[in-house]
Amino acid sequence: MSILVLNGPNLSRLGKREPEVYGWQTLDDINRELAESFPHLSFEFFQTEHEGTLLEKLFHIEDSGNFIGVVLNAGALTHYSIALRDAISAVTIPVVEVHLSNVYAREEFRRKSVISEVCAGVISGFGANSYHLGVRALLGITRNEQL
Ligand code: DQA
Repeated sequence: MSILVLNGPNLSRLGKREPEVYGWQTLDDINRELAESFPHLSFEFFQTEHEGTLLEKLFHIEDSGNFIGVVLNAGALTHYSIALRDAISAVTIPVVEVHLSNVYAREEFRRKSVISEVCAGVISGFGANSYHLGVRALLGITRNEQL
């Protein structure tokens, strides 16, 4: 069984994009460290700039039956995509919402997430470590343990 680490719009630009907010690591760096930190787990890493592609990916991995859950950084889609929210509701696998930055300490519009209510939980503000914590949260859900 695998974990999907799913990234949305603009996260392909990590390392170049507003490094004072998002850090100097590229998405490849973050993904590599994640795989190294959990060598016993199997990961799929996927990033897209397109809302529909993100939805299709969720449905595809749900239908495959091979995934225990999703660590999702939806980028700006977090704040307005009802289509993404409905897609997360439509799948049975748990989705953990993660953000590199603390979205509650930034602009007003980032304080609203339309997907949080249908995600298993939210991790925000720990940089690349947000993804690590997201994986640990998924494992906790899967093992039905308290973290
Ligand atoms: C982000 C926060 C979002 O508000 C923003 O649109 C992003 C990145 C984060 O990881 O901190 O693209 O999801």
